[in-house]
Amino acid sequence: MSEKTSAAKRAAELRQQLEQANHRYYVLDAPEISDAEYDQLFSELQQLEAANPELKAPDSPTQRVGGAPSPMFAAVRHRQPMLSLRKAAIDLKAEGRELQHAELIDFDRRVREVLAKAAVDYIAEPKLDGLAVSLIYEHGLLVQGATRGDGETGEDITQNLRTIRSLPLRLRGEVPPLVEVRGEVFLPLAGFQKMVRDAEARGEKPPVNPRNAAAGSLRQLESVITAKRPLAFYAYGTGVSEGWTLPVRHRDVLDQLKAWGFPVSELIQPVTGAEGCLAYFEAIGEKRARLPFDIDGVVFKLDDLAGRSELGSVSREPRWAVAYKFPAEEAVTVLENVEFQIGRTGAVTPVARLRPVFVGGANVSNATLHNMDEVQRKDVRIGDTVIVRRAGDVIPEVKEVVLAQRPADARVVLLPPSCPVCGGAIAREEGEAIARCTNGLSCRAQLHGALIHFVSRKAIDIDGLGEKLLALVIDALDVRTPADIYLKLDAAKLAALERMGEKSAQNLVDAIDASRNTTFGRFLFALGIPVVGETTARDLAQHYGSLTALLAAAEADLATEHAEKKKERFPLLQSVTDVGPTVAASIAHFFAEPRNRAVIDTLVKPREEGGAGIHWPAPKAAAEGALTGKTLVITGTLPGLSREEAAALIEANGGKVTGSVSAKTDFLLAGEAAGSKLAKAEKLGVPVLDLAALRGLIG
Ligand code: IVH
Repeated sequence: MSEKTSAAKRAAELRQQLEQANHRYYVLDAPEISDAEYDQLFSELQQLEAANPELKAPDSPTQRVGGAPSPMFAAVRHRQPMLSLRKAAIDLKAEGRELQHAELIDFDRRVREVLAKAAVDYIAEPKLDGLAVSLIYEHGLLVQGATRGDGETGEDITQNLRTIRSLPLRLRGEVPPLVEVRGEVFLPLAGFQKMVRDAEARGEKPPVNPRNAAAGSLRQLESVITAKRPLAFYAYGTGVSEGWTLPVRHRDVLDQLKAWGFPVSELIQPVTGAEGCLAYFEAIGEKRARLPFDIDGVVFKLDDLAGRSELGSVSREPRWAVAYKFPAEEAVTVLENVEFQIGRTGAVTPVARLRPVFVGGANVSNATLHNMDEVQRKDVRIGDTVIVRRAGDVIPEVKEVVLAQRPADARVVLLPPSCPVCGGAIAREEGEAIARCTNGLSCRAQLHGALIHFVSRKAIDIDGLGEKLLALVIDALDVRTPADIYLKLDAAKLAALERMGEKSAQNLVDAIDASRNTTFGRFLFALGIPVVGETTARDLAQHYGSLTALLAAAEADLATEHAEKKKERFPLLQSVTDVGPTVAASIAHFFAEPRNRAVIDTLVKPREEGGAGIHWPAPKAAAEGALTGKTLVITGTLPGLSREEAAALIEANGGKVTGSVSAKTDFLLAGEAAGSKLAKAEKLGVPVLDLAALRGLIG
């Protein structure tokens, strides 16, 4: 085959794949390939067509932007085309900052060349992952709202857009006879998660991502359905206008939009040059995981509007703006096997072994499948082609299976009949998603996990006793329970271990010794009671004040375990803040287990009597102050104060800090990038304070 015919064949193949993907994404709302894979195919086709101009066809997916409008809604011809954005990609495999960001640096260079300027100001905006819309206001009144469609023609969704509360139906202040405002409709994560839960509860297929959920919500034929969806809107530009003089800079446009009453993202900032762009990009990348909505990159736009006309656009992409996307977080690969890991509470976690794939800036060969319910829900089989997702620092996960590519010999994943580590029995309680190895600390995997948790910084806090060393002391020094750390380790034995000097052995012994003096809350957290986190442990400690009191309550509650109503089970434990029936059951069962009681007894028994000698100060009476009797929840990043410091400040003034917002919460202390807790507080009418307001209250 000649080079030309093979290029033609490949181009036809790519077109067919891309059209199929477009159809599934835009029309069926059921994508089969990841965005990253789509982008990859798209740019391959673009390059082929550029190298072989005779291959360009009017029906190529590269010749249009977006999907065709649905016949369900009236068509709206945009008076000014809604452009698309040129994309620049990071090359993570390149060496050095300069080469990795070469495409962005090139963009800035071209802009500077055309404008003949040494340095250029841009406005950096988050690239929201939603849908672009056009809103026409006549004499301040919203008269028409449309989707972007293919950029030329969109769909009239005025009724649906009117249901978005943050979108002004009438402009404030001085208004021109006509102005078109453009922006993005999107679904914040809390709303998305709710839609997923609701769909699952109804037994329907949940939306695959916030963007699809937003698209589905906006394109409802009945706007009452749209109205129930928590859609949000940010304005980022204008289109046609009459009787309004376009300002000189984009930042002035944004100010005008705010003055008219539009929400404009707080994250938008002016920056200078490629360096400024990069600094912004990196800073927002850090914040990204904490934002209450999904963003998939940053848009850099030339601030000077006259400069924009000079630059113009090429094939519907302006040369004055660029979309700089975060590295692909999704990739397609083959699931080669499923293995089972045992966690510190015995939880059996299925782990996917993958054909290695580069995603989100790293090579990934393992991904979590969470639990067997998830395996079944996603219908994952060995041999399947799967979409792997990696968001920020979190563990990569198998997002979904590409069913169309399932091989005939794909194998169903089965829970192993016994623990792969210790051979113990595996049990799955009724109604529980998680199967567990029942061997407790006799299972080496559980023992290792339990010890890692026990010594961790927020638990008993033994500095210098890491995962590797713990594995070593289990095998070489016969450590079988957390109490053995205190009973079986001494400087001589530790110094004899591989790669341990006398000095570090002594340091470790000192650290172990220091950890004997702790707090009741830390001790409870260190025990590793399933589903009892740091906050609940602290709440339990505060509520009961002593181990004896807690054990007595747990024991008394056991009698109510089978009560008809959930609320009547474990009533004593459930009276503790944020403890519901599930957590209460876990606590009661943990303390009822003789093996656990034996370890606890040894841990707290004085050293003279052969115990580990862990102790803590008697409970202080709660402080009195401006916040006495008040319950607060902390969320977001507080300026110059860690969460622990904020909690201490509240407690020192008599207040109580809990983990989740409920009707009983008196105040929410919210910092930057507050998410679902803020939304919940607003919904429940819980007053929200910033740090300054809190300090004001305390005086
Ligand atoms: S400006 C030429 N600004 O990205 C200007 N678009 O790839 C085009 N988007 O259709 C739009 N955040 O859906 C612009 N801050 C932002 C954006 C943004 C997200 C989306 C929008 C648009 C697509 C273009």
